[in-house]
Amino acid sequence: MDFSSMFFLSFVAFLFIFLFNSLLNCLSSNAKKLSLPPGSLGWPYIGETFQLYSQNPNVFFASKQKRYGPIFKSHILGCPCVMISSPEAAKFVLVTRAHLFKPTFPASKERMLGKQAIFFHQGDYHTKLRKLVLRAFKPEAIKHIVSDIESIATSTLQSLEGRLINTFQEMKTYTFNVALLSIFGKDEVLYREDLKRCYYILEKGYNSMPINLPGTLFNKSMKARKELAQILAKILSTRRQMKLDHNDLLGSFMGDQEGLTDEQIADNIIGVIFAARDTTASVLTWIVKYLGENPSVLQAVTVRNQT
Ligand code: HEM
Repeated sequence: MDFSSMFFLSFVAFLFIFLFNSLLNCLSSNAKKLSLPPGSLGWPYIGETFQLYSQNPNVFFASKQKRYGPIFKSHILGCPCVMISSPEAAKFVLVTRAHLFKPTFPASKERMLGKQAIFFHQGDYHTKLRKLVLRAFKPEAIKHIVSDIESIATSTLQSLEGRLINTFQEMKTYTFNVALLSIFGKDEVLYREDLKRCYYILEKGYNSMPINLPGTLFNKSMKARKELAQILAKILSTRRQMKLDHNDLLGSFMGDQEGLTDEQIADNIIGVIFAARDTTASVLTWIVKYLGENPSVLQAVTVRNQT
């Protein structure tokens, strides 16, 4: 996979689809004045869902990009959508015209991550979750795990010695391990393998066709999602019995005054892993690429880290 499609895919994987509702509504009522980007909407309702899911998604996006450019329309999982893959377009959606857009996900993605996750909400509940997430990642809250994160980085680097690797995949493993530490603190060691096994199955089916029949990737994902919720329930119950204060993200969600239900906590834990993993792994991969291509910058960074 080349770097631009990798970045694009991780971006799409997270945001999945920004429905340009306002744009499309505007368009239908005012078709003569506005025009949609190039592309194809495919069949009624089904759109281009089968084209996307019957092949490697990279091939779908790469061929569309080649044919229509960095911004193109499509129709996936019942949603008319505009796909973007350029930094300028991302800035338009996320920064300069962010007020015109509302993040929405297809229903199957909501089911998989959990309907109570922060991404699917606005208003007071959203504000509260944002506060709880931010407080768990403040420098004050994470300073005591910096040395553990460094150990994870060191052992990751050691494990790469002498191997031909896919940097993005290795960075995903690294970010997953750091995510577990930031979310569960030292407790994570006990549950790491189970959490990893289930999360990886969940992730594998995340972009699969949402057909919930025995044997489909989607079905396996949904089962893994259920198992994840059970593991999280176990962790919550153990913590409640121990009655200890924790400084990590789970501790932040479990605060007595916050009044979150177990389901809300589980959906948001899974949501944060999802939000943090591919995005951070993608940035780290770019950093590795550019440091590799610019030895003088690598040296400056190395000197800075040693002082
Ligand atoms: C370089 C890495 C990252 C990138 C590029 C990235 C990108 C994004 C983007 C584009 C959004 C959507 C913003 C919007 O809807 O306006 C978002 C939301 C979010 N991200 Fe990240 N993210 C990164 C790392 C992380 C990490 C490490 C965490 C873990 C705490 C995280 C947690 C979240 C959460 C909870 C939201 C939802 C915020 C909300 O709805 O208010 N992200 N991220």
